[in-house]
Amino acid sequence: MQTPYLLTFDTIGSPDLGYIAVAENSALPFPIKRTYWIYCTPETVLRGHHAHHELQQLVIAVHGRIEFTLENVAGEKSTFLLDAPEVGLFIPEMHWRTINFSHDAVLLCLASTEYNEADYIRSFEEFKSVARR
Ligand code: TYD
Repeated sequence: MQTPYLLTFDTIGSPDLGYIAVAENSALPFPIKRTYWIYCTPETVLRGHHAHHELQQLVIAVHGRIEFTLENVAGEKSTFLLDAPEVGLFIPEMHWRTINFSHDAVLLCLASTEYNEADYIRSFEEFKSVARR
């Protein structure tokens, strides 16, 4: 079972010039097949509430503050606060997630597969029963 972890992207720049952060497949845990971003999420909304059979993701708070709570198949929980644009969180497959956003947050997701609704596990009961198999 893979575990979630934070990684720091290579950056180019300085406080005087500003920065470029770079994500290249050769430096990532998987080749990127899809990119999407989430924005304007009200602070009262908790998103997520699902896991994926196969999808792996690298998520970045390119602006604002995003808190991820992840639970693995053994029931172990971990919480990650993303608030720096050069830091990404690797989320392996089979992790139940809940996500809380500051209203100004923009979440960039680099994904290992194209969108496939069949890859989602949207019921926590089903997640636990898949995990027991
Ligand atoms: P979902 O992944 O459930 O987002 P969240 O967990 O943040 O609420 O996606 C929300 C909706 O958007 C869902 O109906 C599926 C759709 N969607 C796509 O069609 N393509 C995509 O690449 C993504 C990420 C979502």
